[in-house]
Amino acid sequence: MYNFDEIIERHGTNSIKYDLAAKKGMPEDILPFWVADMDFKSPPEVLKALSQRVNHGIFGYSDTIDESYFNALYNWYSERFDWQIRPEWVIKSPGVVFSICTAIRALTKPGDAVMIQQPVYYPFENSVKDNDRRIIVNQLLYSDGRYEMNFDEFERLIVEENVKLFILCNPHNPVGRVWTSEELIHAGDICVRHGVYVISDEIHQDFIYPGYRHTVFAGLKPEYSDISITCTAPSKTFNLPGLQISNVFISNAKIRRLYTEELRRTGYSQPNLMGMLACQAAYEKGAQWLDKLIAYLADNLALIRELLDDELPSISLVEPEGTYLVWLDFSRYGLPDRELEQLLIHKAKIWLSPGPAFGAGGQGFQRFNIACPRAVLQQGLNRLKESFKDIGRKI
Ligand SMILES: Cc1ncc(COP(=O)(O)O)c(C=O)c1O
Repeated sequence: MYNFDEIIERHGTNSIKYDLAAKKGMPEDILPFWVADMDFKSPPEVLKALSQRVNHGIFGYSDTIDESYFNALYNWYSERFDWQIRPEWVIKSPGVVFSICTAIRALTKPGDAVMIQQPVYYPFENSVKDNDRRIIVNQLLYSDGRYEMNFDEFERLIVEENVKLFILCNPHNPVGRVWTSEELIHAGDICVRHGVYVISDEIHQDFIYPGYRHTVFAGLKPEYSDISITCTAPSKTFNLPGLQISNVFISNAKIRRLYTEELRRTGYSQPNLMGMLACQAAYEKGAQWLDKLIAYLADNLALIRELLDDELPSISLVEPEGTYLVWLDFSRYGLPDRELEQLLIHKAKIWLSPGPAFGAGGQGFQRFNIACPRAVLQQGLNRLKESFKDIGRKI
């Protein structure tokens, strides 16, 4: 019914994943596995809703006037995560990074300390620095191929640096952890104890592999809901990032007021019409497509895992519990990061996301986006194998 094997030409479509390569002087036939969008069409139900609107032909100022948009969100969160939202909590936004920047300005002052857990999605650091706040890094612990939070350090930094806000990546990009409720409670209790606000970025919540379960941070305890802002979007899940729609949930009326006042100062008012339509159609009708997609991605994951085990054991795959992003450890080759990057781009001709961009702990790693047709993934893996099979292991 859904054909995830279909290879769709994306060159010449203003795609940053594809069309930036030439501008950056990369080989013409490079295969991109970097930025986190997918090479699959959005669900047919979403495409239908969009084309109906195109046929209507008028794209005036728009917002959701009836309850159906809220109901679509409510049912999605209730059914998939057992989290019940209320209408007044919902604030639409053009994107999660936009919301994070808005929340930083709403809840902290210039010079205040904001904590993140690197290696992590790099716009977190930029959002803090671009808004003249002080970045505090609570680096994740990495041992035996698995990442964990360093709770002792987490609390010590909060106290010593007087941290006002913590940006949680739940599930975590790029290391693929789906934080357990125990871990979230450990971190959440520390934040409550020290009066630290939490932005929980849950954009990857829908990509969870069998055996794991996503927990909405704000849903765990009323105290967490009371100190937090939950950022979500249908954009990763249904491959809609170009449509610029995201939903923020804030239950605490004071935090919501601070956020909406800051939002007003940005000049943002009505959301993107096509994004809103796509979002509603996706949450109403996209569940079956998503379930099939996750099964397809799990098979892609098996493919990359097998190839590395059999042919390139010097590259370790950090087993993802969620997300379609695979964090690969190349450190056994002992190559400087710049050299590794050049080798991947010019010899293997595959474009990954270099680890150092994700901050502390990213050295020697590369992030591989596996959300593509299997044949494309296979081709990329063959290129990796051919280019790395003769490189000696140094460590
Ligand atoms: C953790 C995380 N947050 C936010 C985003 C981007 O969100 P948006 O495009 O809505 O700003 C991404 C995209 O990769 C991400 O991985």
